[in-house]
Amino acid sequence: MDDSAGNDRASVEFKVTADDRVLWESGVMKQGDPAKAVDLDLRGARTLILQVTDAGDGVDYDHANWADARFLVSGTRPQTMDRPVPAEAPVILTPGPGPAPRINGPLVYGCRPGNPFLYRIPTQGQWPMRFSAQDLPTRLQLDAREGIVTGTAPPRGQFVSGDLLALPPPTGWNHWYTHYDRITDRLMREAADVMVASGMADVGYQYVNIDDCWMFAPKHSDPLRVGALRNEQGEIRPNGHFPDMKALTAYVHSKGLKAGIYTSLGPLTCGGFAGSHGHEAQDAKTFADWGFDFRKYDWCSYGDIAKDDPAPELEKFKKPYALMGRLLREQSRDIVLNLCQYGMGKVWEWGAEVGGHSWRTAGDLGFELDRIFDVALANAKHAEWQRPGAWNDPDYIQIEYIGAAHGMGLPQPCPLTPNEQYSFMSLWSLMASPLFFSGDMGRLDEFTINVLCNAEVIEVNQDPLGRCARVVPLTGASFAMVKDLADGSKAVGLFNRAETTTVVAASLEQLGLAGIWRSRDLWRQVDLGRLQTRVSDRIGRHGAFMIRLWPEP
Ligand code: GLA
Repeated sequence: MDDSAGNDRASVEFKVTADDRVLWESGVMKQGDPAKAVDLDLRGARTLILQVTDAGDGVDYDHANWADARFLVSGTRPQTMDRPVPAEAPVILTPGPGPAPRINGPLVYGCRPGNPFLYRIPTQGQWPMRFSAQDLPTRLQLDAREGIVTGTAPPRGQFVSGDLLALPPPTGWNHWYTHYDRITDRLMREAADVMVASGMADVGYQYVNIDDCWMFAPKHSDPLRVGALRNEQGEIRPNGHFPDMKALTAYVHSKGLKAGIYTSLGPLTCGGFAGSHGHEAQDAKTFADWGFDFRKYDWCSYGDIAKDDPAPELEKFKKPYALMGRLLREQSRDIVLNLCQYGMGKVWEWGAEVGGHSWRTAGDLGFELDRIFDVALANAKHAEWQRPGAWNDPDYIQIEYIGAAHGMGLPQPCPLTPNEQYSFMSLWSLMASPLFFSGDMGRLDEFTINVLCNAEVIEVNQDPLGRCARVVPLTGASFAMVKDLADGSKAVGLFNRAETTTVVAASLEQLGLAGIWRSRDLWRQVDLGRLQTRVSDRIGRHGAFMIRLWPEP
């Protein structure tokens, strides 16, 4: 790191890659760190890439030097490549849905006895369609044209009525990475419209979730967002961009979709808006009265309160979430609770116990988009804590148009290549992670719809066993993931982390799969025939190959 960086915020990481092998990584280097000497044997390498990244915190003040760098060359003189990262065409792999009706998952769905019930049956095919159902519980009705089931959840023990919600990983859209503190009622309604019109709802996307900045803030550049945080009764107030929360949720529900909302544990949210501290019970009731079905509960500004609490560290983490878990269960609505505290105190070990249905396992992925593989692999380490109704959450799918997390930027084309976008969706599906798209619903293009809406890929995510894939390291910079599915089949992903196109191969033995398997390419939706030795594919830089295997007798 150059001394002229002159600031503690300067931090970079150096990396040397030859073909598909990472030869050297410096680790994070900060201003003042001594230089590191490196001498690498490059014999036989065809492509060499010297890379410096921002170490995940943006490029502010970063100033890196490959000091005194030399190549010792014999034979043909090497040539520089035109571009370090070859441009990739956004190739559409998935065929569009055919005319025949196909009911998509999830196959199971949790609800609480006696609460309002709402479920849109995700169905692809040629609309209009006609729906009918046999043995529907008595207090439920099915809208035959829309395929939306409404009414009152059946008594305990009938169907999947009981204590558990979010049996499959929750799916939908969250506004954060596109609209940040620009979110409005109009944009939320637009998201609900697009979720249906684009076909997202037909493959199972369900929640339309508001993140931060819908409340009032003590100060903000937009006058419609500045005002008293609560009314005289102490009730939280939506800001000037949200005229009527009940009308908003009613609109979302009229489409058969569900609505989510956000607050923080502390007095203020991370964005500096009204938080729930001291008003927990009141807010739980308000959100239920408004008709919300999902609540993201963020740690923001609670640190100041927790520091004065004499309780042991772990108790401090659990206490505020356990309180909200209990309060939400007391409402006469099904409200899914998402814990957002970035993985502190090993939240995966106790998130379910305090009433959470999912919990973020790390900080904001928006700051680490160049590390989606690392973030996914770290998340997959907590596989054993995950089960139906209790999910590790590695944060949102950030593809298409998103705003830079640093500075809450306006939506721009995302920095991920097409291959990386396929990898993103493959990883999240194999890990059974909550699937929330956070790009711009107003700009969905054909490529993005193909990445987001492959019914066979999503089926892997929504599988009723709820398993997170096992990670199998392979040679070079590649790895595989293997996910057990409820019907005895397996989903397998191969991932190429190398900087160039590489053949990635894994023997069935390496994958822990004995016997003969029938295989299908999930992204292309084509049968590949029988397999008995190995899985392999030529995969582009940072790309993925995803198949499903069924045991042959
Ligand atoms: C935190 C969360 C994000 C988002 C913002 C809102 O950073 O981790 O997901 O909700 O707060 O301010």
